[in-house]
Amino acid sequence: MANLVITIDGPAASGKSTIARLLAEKLGASFLDTGAMYRAVTLAAIEAGVDMSDEGKLLGVLQTSEFHFAVKEGKMAVCIDGLDVTEQIRRPEVTAKARHIASQARLREKLVEMQRQFASTEKKIVTEGRDQGTVAFADADVKFFLTADVKERARRRQAELRARGGGESLEQIQGAIEERDKSDEDRAVGPLRPARDAVVIDTTDLTKDEVLERLLRCVEEKCLKRKQK
Ligand code: DC
Repeated sequence: MANLVITIDGPAASGKSTIARLLAEKLGASFLDTGAMYRAVTLAAIEAGVDMSDEGKLLGVLQTSEFHFAVKEGKMAVCIDGLDVTEQIRRPEVTAKARHIASQARLREKLVEMQRQFASTEKKIVTEGRDQGTVAFADADVKFFLTADVKERARRRQAELRARGGGESLEQIQGAIEERDKSDEDRAVGPLRPARDAVVIDTTDLTKDEVLERLLRCVEEKCLKRKQK
């Protein structure tokens, strides 16, 4: 396992990925976008035409396809069977169907295993998702939970989608985020919630730099305390 594990959990569009990337860069750490893993399995299942409620078939997709995750130019690059699908996993259809993968216990187990495997090859890692501090890395050195008002999250997501040519209305985006929040919070396995020892940060009125600054301060304080022990 890595010497330093930092987890960042939080709801959709709370800024986790951007902050995880920036924090990792500052700390000279690797980063893991675990949402990209759920998205990759979702894409593979869609392409295989598998029934999204059939856990056995979905597990089959996970076991028979070769998934590869790596940090490339500051992004989580994803390949399935040697094919680069980094852009395709962001398709709206994938976003909408990923909850099926996220709610299946055996698939989550396998993905958590892959996440731990990924971390075991790195010295320092910042990993982000929904269950990183609660399940995947319950012993992490520093845990964060980022939240933001749903309207602000919808605005941020709209800006992101527009940059990629998407034209969804703010209402549509907010509705989709609310649905995803509900399914993330209500599922029986790996539900979205802050770990008991997580530092919770509401980013609604904060800039990216301000959030990053807070996280860096916490990491420094916690690591300093650890050294003094
Ligand atoms: O963060 P994201 O939007 O890329 O996540 C994609 C999907 O994966 C979303 O439905 C939540 C789910 N997910 C999860 O259940 N657990 C994680 N650790 C990461 C993502």
